[in-house]
Amino acid sequence: MTSKKLDDYDWTKNRLKYLFDNVKDWKDDLVYTEYLGIWSMKKLIALDYYIEPFVKILRKNNFKKWVFVDPFAGSGLFKINDKFNFPGSPLIPLFRREQFHKYLLSDVNQKYINALNLRIKNFENIEILNNIEIKKIDCNKRINEIFSGSRPNNWKDIAYLVFLDSYGLDISWDNMARILNSGPVDIIFTFMTWGIVRNKNIIQSRPKLNKFFGDIHWQSLSKQDDFVEYYCKKIQKFGHYKKYKTYNIAIENLKGNRYDLILATQSEGGANVLNDLRKKIESINPKMIEGAFSVARGEQRQISEFY
Ligand SMILES: C[S@@+](CC[C@H](N)C(=O)[O-])C[C@H]1O[C@@H](n2cnc3c(N)ncnc32)[C@H](O)[C@@H]1O
Repeated sequence: MTSKKLDDYDWTKNRLKYLFDNVKDWKDDLVYTEYLGIWSMKKLIALDYYIEPFVKILRKNNFKKWVFVDPFAGSGLFKINDKFNFPGSPLIPLFRREQFHKYLLSDVNQKYINALNLRIKNFENIEILNNIEIKKIDCNKRINEIFSGSRPNNWKDIAYLVFLDSYGLDISWDNMARILNSGPVDIIFTFMTWGIVRNKNIIQSRPKLNKFFGDIHWQSLSKQDDFVEYYCKKIQKFGHYKKYKTYNIAIENLKGNRYDLILATQSEGGANVLNDLRKKIESINPKMIEGAFSVARGEQRQISEFY
C-alpha cells in the first residue's frame, strides 16, 4: 500500500473512531434512521470535516453568530450491521469543540423526531441543549421559516451551515434559491444523480423534476455529469458577497448508483477548505471505509484485507 493510501486510511479510521466512540454505548429501544450502506458515511465524514474550519473562518472574520440547519435530520442514529451505533448528521456538530449558536433540526417523520428528542438528552451540556430546536415539519416549510430570501442588513450578524440530505427531489428550486439569496450560507447538498437519470424519461416524474430544477432545461440533458454540472452552474449565479463556488463529489454505492455531494460557499476561505475536503473524500473508497470502521470499533483485521 502506498504511504498516501495509508495516510488516507488512517485519517478515515480516526474520523470514524471519533464519531463511533461518542455513541457506541448509547442504548435505547428507539427507531434508527434507515441506513443505506457504508458509502453514505462519506457525507457524514464530509460534514464532520467542514464544521471546525467553517466556524474558525467565521470567528476570524468577526461574524456574530452561526447556525446549523438540518431539515432532513432523521433520528440521530444509524445501526450498522444490525449491531453498531453510528451518529447521523444532527448529532455530528454536537460532538465537535467548535459549537454553533443554534441547531435547527427537523424532519417530516414523527418517530424520528421523537427519537432525536430523546437522544439529544445524552448530551449533558445544558447550554448546548438550550440551543437545539427540533421540529416535525416538511423541509420546504422549514426553509421558508428560517430563510428570508433576501440579503441581510448586517452581513456578519448570522451565518448558516445547511446540510440538505434528502432521499430524493424534495427541495424545490425556489427554496434552494431562497436559501442562496439569504446571506452568508454554506451548503452541503445530497444530489440524487442516479435517481434523476432514472426518472428523466418517466412522464409522471416531469413535474417533480421541473420543480426541482426550476426550469425545463434538464429535459435536454442525458449524462449524469451534465445534470450535476447544470445544477451547480445555477447555484454559481447566486451570491451577494461573492458568487458561489461549488465543488461536487461523485459517490457510488456498491451497486454503482451515483449521487453527488454538492458543496457550496461564497467565502474564499470556505472554498479552499471545501476544495481540500473534496480531494480528501474522493481519496477514500467504500472498502477503505468498511475496513477503517471495523478497525475503529476494535476488531482486529489486517489493513491489507481492504485493498
Ligand atoms: C437520508 S435521510 C437523512 C439522514 C440524516 N441526514 C442523517 O445523517 O442521519 C432523509 C430524511 O429525510 C426525511 N424526509 C423525507 N422527506 C422529507 C420532507 N419532505 N421534509 C422533511 N424531511 C423529509 C426522512 O424522514 C429521512 O429522515
